[in-house]
Amino acid sequence: PQAATDATPVKTPALPDAQTVTAVKHWTDRLFSFRVTRPKTLRFRSGEFVMIGLLGDNGKPLLRAYSIASPAWDDELEFYSIKVQDGPLTSKLQHIQPGDEIILRPKPVGTLVHDALIPGKRIWFFATGTGFAPFASLLREPATYENYDEVVVTHTCRDVAELEYGRQLIENLRQDEMMMELLGAENLNKIRYYPTTTREQSPKMGRITNLLKDGTVFADLGIPPINAETDRAMVCGSLGFNIDLKEVLEGFGLREGANSDPKEYVVEKAFVG
Ligand code: A2P
Repeated sequence: PQAATDATPVKTPALPDAQTVTAVKHWTDRLFSFRVTRPKTLRFRSGEFVMIGLLGDNGKPLLRAYSIASPAWDDELEFYSIKVQDGPLTSKLQHIQPGDEIILRPKPVGTLVHDALIPGKRIWFFATGTGFAPFASLLREPATYENYDEVVVTHTCRDVAELEYGRQLIENLRQDEMMMELLGAENLNKIRYYPTTTREQSPKMGRITNLLKDGTVFADLGIPPINAETDRAMVCGSLGFNIDLKEVLEGFGLREGANSDPKEYVVEKAFVG
């Protein structure tokens, strides 16, 4: 920030498509979230992603695809990121502070959108790690509750601390008056949160893929197994996770949809490095 004197010109963005960081929160040594200003002209559907980044050492933009974690109605944009110590972008991005600028290309795209699914009764959000980001958007999106009677959110992480961003987000929905009013207090009862860990002890351990295959999830939630008539799913995790979960969903008779061809489930890879 510059001292405001009469001689100081209005600060002009140093980067192409620059947006200003408004908040940063570090969750673990591997995870952080941040908020930036939203370009006035940017319209997107909750669940979509954009390219964001910084100027690289060579002076060229260094960009990666990031799901927008905030909902379409929000004034600002939120992102949830991994920190990779030797990652070209995240080794630098993890040091951003409020007032800094990042590059944000205002061209949202993606398949984790309600438009890519045909109507159903129950929607499943399946996330691992930072794959929770698009669901952070969709959980704050009124259409999620208008379209479905039940919203099951599964999040599998290695450790309990890695669940915290998602856990707090869901808990805060029920404590924020504006959110309660916007989404409907009774609608928030549609959320069934199902966190699991794989490497640290927690109340529910195991990969969600295995817990689906052996029926544990359905028994725990007291609901019938996934079925193509009623159940819809969105999947966001590592490549291996997406492949394995697709197979599980196909086993239940769900077919993969797209914007141009809505069906019973959609998949997108979470940002991994
Ligand atoms: P696991 O600890 O058994 O590998 P990561 O941090 O490596 O992206 O993993 C995030 C979470 O996703 C971990 O709990 C991990 O479990 C789980 N996971 C990774 N690959 C798969 C997969 N193919 N199927 C189900 N869960 C997976």
